Amino acid sequence: MRRPGARGWARTSPTSPACQRSWPMDSGFPGRTAFGDQTFLIGEQAAGQRLREELRLRGLRRVVVFASASARASGVVDEVVASALSDCEVRMWSGTILAHAPIAQIEQIAATLQDDGGEIDALLSIGGGKVVDTAKGVAIVLAEGAPLERHRAHRNETGTMVYPPLSRPKLPIVAVPTTLSGAEVTPGCGLTTDQGRKRIFWDRKISARVICHAPEVLGTVPAEVLTTSGMNALAHCAEAMYSKTSGHLASAFAAMGAEYLASGLLGFRDGPPEALSSLGAGSSLAALAICNARTGLHHAICHVLGGMFKIPHGDANSIVLPHALRFNLPATLPQQERFLRAVAVSVPLSAGATAPDAVATLQSLLGVPTRLREAGIAESELGRAAEAVLDDPARFYNPRDIRSAAEVETVLRAAW
Ligand SMILES: [Fe+2]
Repeated sequence: MRRPGARGWARTSPTSPACQRSWPMDSGFPGRTAFGDQTFLIGEQAAGQRLREELRLRGLRRVVVFASASARASGVVDEVVASALSDCEVRMWSGTILAHAPIAQIEQIAATLQDDGGEIDALLSIGGGKVVDTAKGVAIVLAEGAPLERHRAHRNETGTMVYPPLSRPKLPIVAVPTTLSGAEVTPGCGLTTDQGRKRIFWDRKISARVICHAPEVLGTVPAEVLTTSGMNALAHCAEAMYSKTSGHLASAFAAMGAEYLASGLLGFRDGPPEALSSLGAGSSLAALAICNARTGLHHAICHVLGGMFKIPHGDANSIVLPHALRFNLPATLPQQERFLRAVAVSVPLSAGATAPDAVATLQSLLGVPTRLREAGIAESELGRAAEAVLDDPARFYNPRDIRSAAEVETVLRAAW
């Protein structure tokens, strides 16, 4: 039998200097999970202390903080700075982070940081998708240069998606999420032009390296924000299970994510910290799933509703999901059956219920928005919205081919 070390491998012992330098090996907090260079801290134990230790292990000392207005107002930012960043030099971005991560604001922030000078080890985001997407955009500009438009994913003249190689090293991003969008996990970000068009940027190096989901943070978030962003995460699971590029691992992440999300969404109001941890875990699993499987028609619609009509992403997801599932049902029966089983662990359903029925039941139990007409979009706008959906890259991953704007409009009308 070969012994460790006998053929020149694994010669280090747990106390050798080599092991002491190896950060993934020497931190054993409950709830800490590392995939590649990404670490997830999810659980009920002293989040601030765990995050401080993670930053120390990675040598991240000079930190620029971006935070949402609500995270400042709730005191979460002060707590994170006092507990997790007590060993760091902290520069706080004091401006308001705008919704939908406008490209103009991101370029302005990056220019200000460059003008100010000073070394930066990491960008830390405290907030939801718009905050971490802003940090991602800033990381791209600082590394690759302005204007951002130069670096966006786009279709070439033959219709093939082109992802410009953003090969320069990026500042690591650390995220303390206050929503369940999972934006911090993914290698992509959706940034918005002055004309309200969503631009997609894609680089593995802008995925947050450290993601800290803590009940004491999620517990400060208004219930309606958690429920709508939870519906967004649930949509990530559904789409990841049946997209054209889904696979075994993405599907497994998505199924487990859907189970955690449904139970967390129904349980978090009563206050057990485990329910909030389930939401954090479900959000991260959903995001790991879409990193690989991508999203489809549902998200193509939600991108347009956000970019053109300023409907918040969580609200758009809450409204559209059952209708997008129904459109795709004939092409994805086995996948939707698996999604249904995951949701049905917590959601009470009658016999013969389908996945769209399960989502509709969850909508009513949570009290999330269900109608586009109530979200501020006029019926006469649906045709224009449907045309714009055809331009969104996500629709190409949809399992059922979309041949015309009229097909998209039927989904929008059902949701209206
Ligand atoms: Fe989403």
